[in-house]
Amino acid sequence: MSTLSSPRTPRSLPLLLGESPAILSLRREIEAAARTDAKVLVLGETGSGKEVVARLIHEYSSRASRAFVAVNCSGIPETLLESELFGHTRGSFTGAYRDKPGLVRQADRGTLFLDELGEMSLRMQAVLLRFAETGEIQTIGVDGVTGRSDVRLITATNRNLRERIDAGVFREDLYFRLNIIQIHVPALRERAEDVMLLLRHYLHKASETHRLHCPELTSDAEQVLVAYAWPGNVRELKNLAERLVVREWDRPISSNDLPTEIRGSRETVSSTPSSNVVFTQESVPTARRLERGSGAADRLWDRLIAGENFWTVVHQPFKAHELTRDDLAALIHRGLEHTRGSYRALLGVFGLPPTDYKRFHAFLYQQNCNLPVGPYRTARATVRRQDRPASAYPPAC
Ligand SMILES: Nc1ncnc2c1ncn2[C@@H]1O[C@H](COP(=O)(O)OP(=O)(O)OP(=O)(O)O)[C@@H](O)[C@H]1O
Ligand SMILES: [Mg+2]
Repeated sequence: MSTLSSPRTPRSLPLLLGESPAILSLRREIEAAARTDAKVLVLGETGSGKEVVARLIHEYSSRASRAFVAVNCSGIPETLLESELFGHTRGSFTGAYRDKPGLVRQADRGTLFLDELGEMSLRMQAVLLRFAETGEIQTIGVDGVTGRSDVRLITATNRNLRERIDAGVFREDLYFRLNIIQIHVPALRERAEDVMLLLRHYLHKASETHRLHCPELTSDAEQVLVAYAWPGNVRELKNLAERLVVREWDRPISSNDLPTEIRGSRETVSSTPSSNVVFTQESVPTARRLERGSGAADRLWDRLIAGENFWTVVHQPFKAHELTRDDLAALIHRGLEHTRGSYRALLGVFGLPPTDYKRFHAFLYQQNCNLPVGPYRTARATVRRQDRPASAYPPAC
């Protein structure tokens, strides 16, 4: 839920690789922000480097010798988030067995980084607004103000906050309060000239970590990678580098060896889920559902493949009624197609540990999205994956 850098442990600076004009100007913005103590709102797509930016601002600032405390606001129930941030006293609620000071106090004279701000509930936004305005800490279980904190607040989101304000789910006054310095982290596709530099770096890193040979790429593969849209940005690229290294190559990697999501972006043949599975008679109604939901499913799939996790990317928006059952069904369909009917392998693709199997299955069952695996298993014969080479990715990579 949160990461804490102790003020006493020496830290290495987070890497912000890139030589594109966009990254050069980002570095200048970071340095300028580090010279002040003003609140910073970091915007950018998922995996683009918002946390890297926040950490660098802290490291270059006069607060560098103090703590940098990062809190991911998504996926934490609001009461728990409030107690994590502001602390609680023993017995103030069920399960509060001892006093807890809270992360705001731990970040005192340092930096508090609130990630996924756009996911915060309206009630929690009100609590944050009060804190942002006064710096006062109200510990749960104690009446009134229990302290005052000197923290620099950096917030980040991949959501369009203006849209969320218009939709009535984000407070405009909080937006103004946090948006003193705004830094936009460019998407990787907007700085395609950095793709190979980043990839080479992460290929080397993964080969060191796994003690494996660092693979080479053909120029054809490089072209595909540079042209790819990278919906999951640097995180997706990092994951790809690791996936490539662990496959162990005795020859340079060509474009045909790249995952279908990446190659697919250059292929002319449609690869939407409903286009390449032949359904049996019984599954026809399902097929119709899948077609209707496939746009959102594609976007979800891209984020999951890029390394995000199912509970955050799918379960949460589904519960918030931002996704329909058809979207969910289309996503599961795409996943089962990928894993050839294995729900267990799907867990890995969706960033979930094997221990989440029951919960995952129960959720799909509840939503009537537990698609039968039969068609996907027999799909070896019926899945028409155009030009899928023998070396293409294994299903559960
Ligand atoms: N310019 C960069 N150079 C090297 N590594 C980078 C760069 N940008 C991001 N990364 C790496 O990519 C990964 C994702 O970055 P980060 O967590 O900062 O993204 P994010 O925008 O905060 O993502 P999210 O929206 O999911 O919170 C991290 O492992 C980070 O170290
Ligand atoms: Mg982040």
